[in-house]
Amino acid sequence: MTKAEKPLFQEGAIMQDSLKDKQIVLGVCGGIAAYKSVELLRMLVKQGAEVRVLMTRNAQSFVGPLTFEALSGRPVGRDLFDDAAQGSIRHIEWARNAHAVIIAPATANMIGKLAGGIADDALSTFLLAVTAPRLICPSMNTHMYENMAVQRNLDQLEADGYHIIEPAAGELACGETGPGRLAEPAYIVDRLFHHLCKKDWSGIRVLVTAGPTREAIDPVRYISNHSSGKMGYAVARAAEYRGAEVTLVSGPTRLAPPFGVKTVDVVSACEMAAAVFEHGAEADLIIKVAAVADYRPQTAAAHKIKKSAEEMSLPLVKNMDILKELGEHKRGRVLVGFAAETDDLTEYALAKLKAKHLDMIVGNLVGSPSSGFGADTNQVTLYHADGTQEALPNMAKETVAHVLLDRIHTRFFAKKVDHDSC
Ligand code: CTP
Repeated sequence: MTKAEKPLFQEGAIMQDSLKDKQIVLGVCGGIAAYKSVELLRMLVKQGAEVRVLMTRNAQSFVGPLTFEALSGRPVGRDLFDDAAQGSIRHIEWARNAHAVIIAPATANMIGKLAGGIADDALSTFLLAVTAPRLICPSMNTHMYENMAVQRNLDQLEADGYHIIEPAAGELACGETGPGRLAEPAYIVDRLFHHLCKKDWSGIRVLVTAGPTREAIDPVRYISNHSSGKMGYAVARAAEYRGAEVTLVSGPTRLAPPFGVKTVDVVSACEMAAAVFEHGAEADLIIKVAAVADYRPQTAAAHKIKKSAEEMSLPLVKNMDILKELGEHKRGRVLVGFAAETDDLTEYALAKLKAKHLDMIVGNLVGSPSSGFGADTNQVTLYHADGTQEALPNMAKETVAHVLLDRIHTRFFAKKVDHDSC
């Protein structure tokens, strides 16, 4: 699958219920993109968040408060002086309890008011009292967005600690083309995760490999395996959320490239080796999650092979063992491998740990629907070079990724680790 064919956004990339027990305030301003905030709210609720919606008066001209009320299951805050018993915004209380605030769409007017510290309605008043992460998602006409006053105000907000979620470029409701379109809801949710995570991996360069490789037989056929890439992508995404500088070398998958990650697409094991040696030279940590084909056809036929004899054999030659090669030239890098086995997990994993000079290997038995290739969950055992082992319960691949990063961080990058990473 080429990059162009890949889905741009992937809602399922973030595990369900990741925002359980999180209170998020969604501020909606008066812009045509207010309808997209409905989708954003739906996504936040699906992730388990308790969402309170605050609307400006103009926003209510675009979408009725009832829509937000029905989807959030809570009264919508509209007025600073709402009746305290019913639908009151209680702006100080909401501000105190919020884990994060998203303003989407954020109009030029609201951006200007926030930059100037003006509090003349429910939303702007509430925002002055918030100390949690605040994401501002501008949406407006291109010329308005590029206007010097708006740009100056956005710079000011950034300097004040707001996180600006850049608008996308494209055709706008006003008929013009350019930047100003509200960022896609899935992107906004992804950046929310990024900003909710603590940045314990900040300044650390991580290279992750993911997915299968494909070894060409002829222009229409190849040898490959069932790796979906989900585990490797989860590791890359988790490391990016936690502040690492991440490069992902990916074999062919159906997954959208993680935001904020430099993704290098490869097809064959040879291409993967070249990309790993090029991009891994400066890495502090390499995690090889990819299921690399051990053999490739000796020659890839230039034209489609036609059927003739009853039997056919295909001469294969060995691919380079990329991880072993890295292990023989460690240059101070921490090396973590994955071992997907159908049997004798411990024996095979420990043999690979030793043979490839790894610091850790993550072993998992494949074959069950809840663990391994294609599944959203995984059950792994961590084997360390010092002989210790840790069997983890069956968990979402996103959670496995975070626990794996916790363990690597404790052993190699810090003295102290906080298990509640996000
Ligand atoms: N690996 C690699 N290059 C290869 C084969 C494997 O870098 N040519 C890496 C994988 O990315 C993984 C680890 O080595 O991190 C173990 O891969 P696995 O396929 O489980 O084991 P192999 O060493 O290939 O041994 P076998 O296929 O015999 O189990």
